[in-house]
Amino acid sequence: MYKFSKRVPADGTDAVGAILKAAADPQVISFAGGLPAPELFPVAEMQAAVDRAFEKHGRELMQYGAAKGVTELRELIAQYVKEKENVDVSVENVLVTTGSEQVLDLVAKAFVDEGDTVLMEQPTYLCAVDVFKSFGANFVGVEMDDDGMDMADLEAKLKAHPEAKLIYTVPNFQNPTGRTMTAERRQKLVELAAKYDVYVLEDNPYGQIRFAGEQVPALKSYDQSGHVFYMGTFSKILAPGFRIGWVVADEQVIDKLTVLKQSADLHTDNLAQYAVPEFFAANDVDAHVKKISDLYGKRKDLMLTGIKKYFPDNVKYTNPEGGMFLWVEVPGVDDTVALFKECLKHNVAFVPGDPFFAGATQPGTFRLNYSNMEEDKIEQGLKKLGAALKAATAK
Ligand SMILES: Cc1ncc(COP(=O)(O)O)c(C=O)c1O
Repeated sequence: MYKFSKRVPADGTDAVGAILKAAADPQVISFAGGLPAPELFPVAEMQAAVDRAFEKHGRELMQYGAAKGVTELRELIAQYVKEKENVDVSVENVLVTTGSEQVLDLVAKAFVDEGDTVLMEQPTYLCAVDVFKSFGANFVGVEMDDDGMDMADLEAKLKAHPEAKLIYTVPNFQNPTGRTMTAERRQKLVELAAKYDVYVLEDNPYGQIRFAGEQVPALKSYDQSGHVFYMGTFSKILAPGFRIGWVVADEQVIDKLTVLKQSADLHTDNLAQYAVPEFFAANDVDAHVKKISDLYGKRKDLMLTGIKKYFPDNVKYTNPEGGMFLWVEVPGVDDTVALFKECLKHNVAFVPGDPFFAGATQPGTFRLNYSNMEEDKIEQGLKKLGAALKAATAK
């Protein structure tokens, strides 16, 4: 049999893959996925941008390129982060990556040795758990509530784990909960990172998709000591298929990440890198992002209406101000996977909470996606889900 490395997950551990497969049955209304709404992809505009990129840069874009990325795109990202997040950043602080997912891999490779401690919200983005796990990280979960990571718990954990190396957080409309960290907590987190000399990986794929409330400053905007590494992406505001993400950090960190990126894939696809600045030059991107936010806001509202109408009264749920997900907690359930199976019998699906926890799970929790579901199906799906939850909890 093949002698795979320790990094390769054991067979049968891709719980989410199995769930998505089960939920893919056309009979099933699935809130399990995590995709943007494809009807808002700017297909014609992006096609025109690709054509212009070819016309202007044909040979360069077909040639090998620089590991740090195409200069025009790095300048655009620096400008975008400055404008949207008030982060003082120059082009030297930007590395273009193959989706922001690659940042998780590069940062883990650069900072996490076998046995190093990584602190993360409980629950958190499950692919981040998988990446850090593959580098042998020791996880310490930090409690969270509707205002994001709990700072008292974080400080207690930092004291208890002086070996801690990295704090990973999704501060805006977190995947999976939809929660947003308050400005006070962000400021405190950055202070604690400097005090305990721990790095922070700020993962912000959803920040621009805000449909309610006021924007909260990025952790990176409070960072005076270079402890925060900020990662972003065009996946949710343009299209995930182009795989354009980035990391913003001190030059010294960017240089090391660049060396590691070079070993991983030499550089990110040039066609996508040249096309994005062309798209920005010819289109009102803010108006496009507003369209996305408005649609997701409408779908989230419909989802909440359905939850209130059809779910058992004791069910708790988050009310996100942006992003693509909300989080449900059904009291009295001790086996979330059994709950999932019961719901599947009613032809409706979600992602059970368990894989989002690096340590102890919180039974009865699950994630619902609203961005990729037509409005009439939201109502139908929640009706089925409500009936399934009532059936499951009555047992
Ligand atoms: C929290 C979080 N981080 C990172 C990513 C990776 O996104 P991408 O690689 O498309 O930029 C995702 C994708 O869904 C995500 O939810």
